[in-house]
Amino acid sequence: MKFTTEQMRFWSPAVRELEPYTPGEQPKIQNLLKLNTNENPYPPSPKVVEAVQAVLMDQADALRLYPDPDASQLKQAIAAQQNVNIDQVFVGNGSDEVLAHIFKAFFIQDEPILYPDITYSFYPVYSQFFGIETKQIPLSDDFEIKVEDYRQANGGIIITNPNAPTSIALPLQQIEQILHANPHRVVVIDEAYVDFGAESAVSLVEQYDNLVICQTTSKSRSLAGLRVGFAIAQAHLIAALEAVKNSFNSYPMDRFAIAAAVASFEDQAYFEAQCQKVIQSRDKLIENLKEIGFKVLPSKANFIFVTHPARDAAELATQLREQGVLVRYFNKPRIDQYLRITIGTDQQNQRLVETLKTLL
Ligand SMILES: Cc1ncc(COP(=O)(O)O)c(C=O)c1O
Repeated sequence: MKFTTEQMRFWSPAVRELEPYTPGEQPKIQNLLKLNTNENPYPPSPKVVEAVQAVLMDQADALRLYPDPDASQLKQAIAAQQNVNIDQVFVGNGSDEVLAHIFKAFFIQDEPILYPDITYSFYPVYSQFFGIETKQIPLSDDFEIKVEDYRQANGGIIITNPNAPTSIALPLQQIEQILHANPHRVVVIDEAYVDFGAESAVSLVEQYDNLVICQTTSKSRSLAGLRVGFAIAQAHLIAALEAVKNSFNSYPMDRFAIAAAVASFEDQAYFEAQCQKVIQSRDKLIENLKEIGFKVLPSKANFIFVTHPARDAAELATQLREQGVLVRYFNKPRIDQYLRITIGTDQQNQRLVETLKTLL
């Protein structure tokens, strides 16, 4: 909706300037195949459903009370699963909120923060929101991160690994090189998609006092609807995040979110099985798409980034939408001939491939 200058005179000047993030569409079209926001095609663990029901059945009265501001039961479950101490865990309302607190806690410095030119599009939004200068570092022609480019003065570094929307993973050894080269700045690794085959940097936390890792339950744990994200870092960094959080919203995790996420972390077998299914379907889909002429970047995520030499990507996205198949198109330099496609079930992926065959 557009508002007049007269109406916007009430807005803070900084808000008038904001360019907010545009979330992927969540349309309510029947028989839609939704492959545009990297959600998991499988439901969460049955134990999650039981845990949510138990909150309603056993603790309905407790809903009049505020939840635990520290969400310590959830932090404990995450610490146990990630093999870290509880004081090395921070939780928030989706990793987007955790990232916002990270930007506020560490990145307001007198030098620009660094991140790749093609990456998660929330980073420029937070930077503008918090008045943080940025320097975007071009990926190589193959969309790879060049570690040597991160050896320059900066106010902090954030890297998505595997990167989004490219889906390409950076080996741990190269992350270590970036950490080594920047001992006086915080290096954030956003691991939203790490569970689909990449190496997590959590194993480096003990060694590096400048490392913050951000993860989410939205993708690999099928809990996008609950909004639970978390960070892992040494205790002195977690303390800064707690200070920011308690200056903003002290109860970001509600009772349902805490109970459900705890149940998810306690059902590791289900989690691993679902991730494996997605990985297998991904590999099958990549083969099928290559057979019909697509170039597919090497993916370690629950999505793929593809281009077709003979077809305009924007046009293809529109035509897919007309057939009830939603994929993500970014009208941005360097990637405007690519589509980002979330991995569905084998059956859903088959529908995508069949639809593409009719369009090509
Ligand atoms: C790279 C990356 N980081 C963070 C997020 C945010 O995830 P959530 O807020 O659902 O935890 C996303 C969501 O798509 C993402 O792609």
